[in-house]
Amino acid sequence: MHGMVNIAVRAARRAGELMIRQLNRLETLEITEKNRNDYVTEVDYRAEEAIIEVIYDHYPDHSILAEERGQQGNHEFQWIIDPLDGTTNFIHGFPVFAVSIAVTHNGQLEHGVVYDPLRQEIFTASRGQGAQVDGRKIRVSRCHNMRHSLIATGFPYRGNKQHLDDYLAMLKSVIVASSGIRRPGSAALDLCYVAAGRVDGFWELGLDIWDIAAGALMIKESGGRISDFQGTDAYLHSGNIVAGNPKIYAGLSKLLAPHTRNLDQET
Ligand code: IPD
Ligand code: CA
Repeated sequence: MHGMVNIAVRAARRAGELMIRQLNRLETLEITEKNRNDYVTEVDYRAEEAIIEVIYDHYPDHSILAEERGQQGNHEFQWIIDPLDGTTNFIHGFPVFAVSIAVTHNGQLEHGVVYDPLRQEIFTASRGQGAQVDGRKIRVSRCHNMRHSLIATGFPYRGNKQHLDDYLAMLKSVIVASSGIRRPGSAALDLCYVAAGRVDGFWELGLDIWDIAAGALMIKESGGRISDFQGTDAYLHSGNIVAGNPKIYAGLSKLLAPHTRNLDQET
């Protein structure tokens, strides 16, 4: 395992421990609403600080882009951190949340780690080296047919509600064409589940780079496809994502295409 992946795993586990400890006393959790339906808890802050401390212990010069702290430094290596992906779930004790850490080198994704502290599953990937869960190689599913596919998604529920109608049209097409839809509530884990073949495809609008950087590398390294709705690599910045095994990625992209006109104009 690459040294940076080791450090990311150590940092993610430390953040995960904080979450598990707090989960037994959610009633004392301090919660702030940053914007409508956009919450942050003391655990997001503490987990982020713990992760950054581990990284700086080993790589004091590297840059950081973290959900709560923002951008810091100007180094060729950048660590992109979502300390708690699935904050809304966490606040409610709904057991789907994760830590997501990615490393880029001159803007290119090099490493990704996603940790699910409840299942104690650790997803890892390095560019050109494949993707693993708990050290076991993962591949996207072999499902070839939209009709048999299980698709994950995320609903627009805060600032991105201006596209709610387009999203609902997409949802309707996918409900009709697939065998089922899931909305677990952590985009980082959704992408890992595509990589591990637990779902066959995923789409969402307006995600942030820290939600998706690590998971995107998992998909690429497990034989999957990921892009924005025009099929380009700009998804890390627009946050508009369609992903899946190659067949389902193609099927899903085709289904979503008629409803992406308004989004295309923005990206
Ligand atoms: C959110 C989760 C959710 C997705 C949202 C994200 P957060 O991240 O990934 O599944 O639908 O768009 O913002 O706010 O819990 O870190
Ligand atoms: Ca997130």
